Formats: sequence, structure tokens, C-alpha cells
Amino acid sequence: MDLNDLTRRLGNGTPRIAFGADYNPEQWSREVWKHDVELMREAGVNLVSVGIFSWALLEPEEGRYEFGWLDEVMDLLHANGIAVDLANASASPPPWFTVKYPDSAPVDENGVRQTHGSRQAFAACSPDYRRAAAALTTAIAERYSQHPALAMWHIHNEYGCHNQPDFGPHAERGFREWLRARYGTIDALNEAWGTAFWSQHYYDWSEIMPPRRSGTWVNPSQQLDFARFSSDSLLECFEAEADIIRAHSDKPVTTNFMGTNMGLARPVDYWRWAPRMDIVSNDHYLIAEDPRNHQDLALVADLTRGWAQTKPWLLMEHSTSAVNWQPRNIAKSPGQMLRNSFQHLARGADGILFFQWRASRAGAEKFHSGMVPHAGRDTKVWREVVELGAALEKASEVAGSRVVADAALLFDTDARWAAELDSHPSMEAQPVRELREWHDALFRAGITTDVRQSTDDLSAYPLVVAPMLYLVTDDGAANLRRYVEGGGTLVLTYFSGIVDEHDRIIMDPLNGGGYPGAFRELLGIEIEEFFPLHAAETVPLTEGSGERWSELGRTTTAEAVSRYEAGPTAGSPAVTRNAAGRGHAYYVGTTPDAEALAGLLPRVLADAGIEPPRHAAEHPDLEVVTRASEEGSWVFAINHGTEDARLPVDGVELVSGSATEGELRVPAGGVAVVRVAG
Ligand code: GLA
Repeated sequence: MDLNDLTRRLGNGTPRIAFGADYNPEQWSREVWKHDVELMREAGVNLVSVGIFSWALLEPEEGRYEFGWLDEVMDLLHANGIAVDLANASASPPPWFTVKYPDSAPVDENGVRQTHGSRQAFAACSPDYRRAAAALTTAIAERYSQHPALAMWHIHNEYGCHNQPDFGPHAERGFREWLRARYGTIDALNEAWGTAFWSQHYYDWSEIMPPRRSGTWVNPSQQLDFARFSSDSLLECFEAEADIIRAHSDKPVTTNFMGTNMGLARPVDYWRWAPRMDIVSNDHYLIAEDPRNHQDLALVADLTRGWAQTKPWLLMEHSTSAVNWQPRNIAKSPGQMLRNSFQHLARGADGILFFQWRASRAGAEKFHSGMVPHAGRDTKVWREVVELGAALEKASEVAGSRVVADAALLFDTDARWAAELDSHPSMEAQPVRELREWHDALFRAGITTDVRQSTDDLSAYPLVVAPMLYLVTDDGAANLRRYVEGGGTLVLTYFSGIVDEHDRIIMDPLNGGGYPGAFRELLGIEIEEFFPLHAAETVPLTEGSGERWSELGRTTTAEAVSRYEAGPTAGSPAVTRNAAGRGHAYYVGTTPDAEALAGLLPRVLADAGIEPPRHAAEHPDLEVVTRASEEGSWVFAINHGTEDARLPVDGVELVSGSATEGELRVPAGGVAVVRVAG
């Protein structure tokens, strides 16, 4: 069972976009529950996630379960035609659990043990936690797997949000086991970690620790492996719980990813997790104060679609308005929530859900918006919720269709983790920022991008941009070479292809040759030294300027598109282009400013045979994305600007039901989706 089965079920046979929220009825009285379901019907809610933080109420003491209230909630929702995404409630062990099993709580890098009182207070490798979560999951699966309201399963909640990494004794044991399985021998580990450095050689597995606080930088290869291990240990938790569910139920299983803003959630490697999901689901929250937060949203949606291997996915959480956890929790302006929702829909979401249904009265999130605000029905938020419900219903036919992407951006978790480690040439070399800026450059040009990994089959994309692919495996490097030789256009940016999978420099100690070891030949260049720039310094290029980074090097077979014009790297190539097989590989050795980018991008697009759509120049604030299937194609237009926009497209606009007659008018701040004629 997958997302198509879910959307068909929600529409009684015809696909319908999922619409709803996390629903936490345990925070409210039965009287409010009745009102809730009436309001849900009014808004067209068809799916709610229930029980995510209900462990303490469902299991008052170990092994004794109280399901009465949840039975009532499930029955009430079913009676009102609302399907349930039921949680297995393992996300937050109750206080009695931590009191009974104190060593099950996570420990930070300084050795400080956390306690209950917020949420997620457990260590992923704690056997007591795993046993208790499995018992709870079994009890819930046995009780509800046949319930008619049940539509899908929500395992846990945002794995690793608060308890990762854990440096405690369970993690120590787990890490050693994981390393033994990976390396087999201690010698292989010593080689991979480069332990000849700083007298770090290990003679026995028992000497190896999680990278706890040490005098200064802990071995980076060790840190990288610990990040991988920590992600894998949570994945083991997911798999154990999902296996129990799947033994009882054929309904699709997911856990909500945290591909959210503020640096694209770090603790978990979703590329490894996504194949284990029946439905890929994601949470996204706007960076409220970022004037281009809609572009961040687009990037995260594109990345989520990448995790889903370009198939549709589910937006499990976003907010109707303000959140409670940013420095200034700016509320959404009128229309903004609708635009956000349509952006996700345009970029492949087949469901738009919120955190949460009703804004809480108490607790740490009482100032977080919900679909039902504290002020009730006569509000901007509620009116927009109802408007969105109606609009999504009208757009239902897009469910199941795929986003039409023009290009791909690469974002490997290992490369990101490694590039973010300490003691690097410049704090300015930030992979997530580079990714976001290259995504933005393409977004502004009206180019829709998938986000993929370096090892994925890229042959269908005329253009692939790899921002700061610092770490690359042999397979990844070979794949990119194949891609270019097969006719692709590749753009690699600075600090790419520098280290192998263990974070060791890719180099030849006997013959030299310079950076980037993994791509020197493909790019036709040799870099001998990095020259990171001072804060706020720029370096003039043949065209425009470079920021953050520069390099001393030379071309071998590449042509220099532009050079550094001053400073210690004057005369060195800054941007290069190399022919390889039937394609071209560009290298961008600095962060191009707007002028440099304006010169470079058209050239790259021309090589890739991509013609930027006209609307990008005419209406810079109009976001246009196409979804298509065998049944047809749909053009989404989201106007983030303050002026009306016009787009040549012939068909029927689904929300208004009117024909465009060749030209769609999208009012300032408005959204539209057109079923393209023919
Ligand atoms: C996360 C969690 C939710 C809630 C929201 C608040 O996404 O999954 O339970 O805390 O953040 O923004």
C-alpha cells in the first residue's frame, strides 16, 4: 500500500488530496472533541494524525494499557468520515519510564544525562527503550489494525529531533558493534580514520569511544562515522517498530522527516531511510524572517521529492501561521499559508497537513498556530483553512502526477556531514548555504530542479549542479563522469571532490597533481592551494566578482571561462569549462556574485540545451511548476509578488473552474492550477 492507495481511499475510489493535521484530543474535553469533528467537516479535513504523544496516557504503568479514550476518538472520527494516520506513540516515553529506567535517557557530549520533562528523552540504543516501544507498538497494532478509521501508520515523530546524538553507554556499545561490522578489523579502522595522526592508534575495540568532549578537535573520520552510526541506530528503532506494525496491518507506514528549514535537519540520513517508507512524509516550517523563505520551502520540497525518488510525497506538518520556536515568531500574512500549501502541492505533495489541528491551551507550544486558533472560527486563520480545504478538493485530480523537472541539484548527506566538520579552510564553506544559493539561482531563472544524490541515475537531466560535493565516493565520482561523457552538463563548485568516504584527502603522494582529486581529469584543472577570502572580501573576476573563496591553480584541458583579476590568485582560473565525451563539466572555484552568475548561468543553460521560460524574466516573483501524468499535465502558478502576473497557458483553472483562454492571470499573492488543454 502506498500514497496512491491512501489518496484513493480518501476519495472513496477517486484520488483526493489529503488534508488535515496532528490531532491531540487528549488535551481537550469530550465536548470539544464533538465540536472538533464538526469543524473538521466544515473545513473538508479528511486525515488526522492521532496519538503521537499519547504514550503516558495509553500506558499508565508498564504493561497496563488504557485504550478507552482512544477507542472513542477513533470511532468518533470514523463516524464523521475522517481517516486516521495512527501513531504508535513511541516518540515520548512517560516520566514513569525514565524514573524506572534512568539509564535509558540520552547523554550529551559532556556526559550530562537528560531527563524527562520535555519530549523524546530516550537513548536510541537503550534496550529498555526498545523493548518498551516494541511492547507499546504491539498493543496498539493489535487493538487498531482492523479499525475502519485507520488509513496509515505514523511511526514515532521526527526521529532525532531532540535526543541526537546520544553519547551515553548504550551508544558506546552500539558504536563499537557498528564499527566492527563496517571495518572487520581494528587495522582497517585505523587506516580509515588516519589514526597515525596525533597518536590515536587503537589496539582494541574497547578503546573506541563516541566522539565525546575532548581537548580539541576529535578525529573527523570518527565524527563522520558516529553521525552515520547515530542515524542507523534510529533507523533500527524505526524498523523494529515498523516490522511489528506490518505484521499486523497492510496499511502504509511512514515516519515524518524533518527536512525543514534552519539548515535542513542534520541528524538523520534520509536518503538511507526513505526506501524503508511506504510513504515519504516531511515536515516543513518557514524561516519566518527570511524574505525568500518561499524559496527555502521550494528547496525542501524538491529535496523531499528526491528522497521519494521523484514520486509524490506527503506534507505531514507545516503551520497555518506563526510557530513558537524562532527568535521572532512572525505570523503569516493573509494568503501566505495558501501559497505555501500550493507550493508543496506543485512540488509533488499529495497531502497538505498541519501541526496541529487545535492550538494548545497549555504547554511549550501554546503560542504555536493551529488550524483552529485560540480565537476560534471568526478568524483569518480559520477562513483560510476552509478556503484551502475547498481549493485542495478542487485540485484533487493532480494526485499521483509527477513534477516535471528541468535539472538536478546534488546533495549527499555524507558530503554535507563531512563538510560541516571542524578545522576546515574557512567557516564560509557551508554546503547547505551553497545548495540553497544554487537552487535560488535556478529558481529565479524559472528552472525546476529535483534534488538527488551523486550515485543516482542522472542521465535524464540535461543539467546537474553539485554545490560543494566535498566528499565523494568512487561510485559517485564514476557516476558523474559517466553522466558528462553521456552528454550531460555538470557544474561542480569549490571544495568538491576533496575527500574520500573516510574524509581523507584524495591525492597521490608520489606524483602530486592537486585538488580536486576526484574530479581533476573530468574538470581539466589542477588546484594547488585554497585562498579563502576575508570576511566580506570580494575578488574581481573577468566578469563580476567572487565571494568567500578563491584558489591558485591552472587549467590542463579546460578553457578558463573567467579568471581572478587581482590578489594572490590573479591569473588563476576561477570558472572553467571542460569537454568530456559528449558533455561538459564546469567548475566554479568561488561564490559568484550576481553579475558573475548572470554571465555564467546562460552559458551553462545553453550547453545543457535549456531555454529559461519567459515568465522568469517578466514576473520574477511568479513561481511556475508543472506536474504531469498519463492523464494530462497541470501548471501551478504561485504569485509571491505584489503585482498581478500573466502566464500564457491554455486550459481550465481548477480552483475557480474558469477557462484561461490562452492566458492565466494570477493576482498578486494568489495561486492557480491549470489543467492544460489538449
Ligand atoms: C515539529 C514536531 C511537532 C511540533 C512542531 C512545532 O515538527 O513534529 O510535534 O512540535 O515541530 O513546530
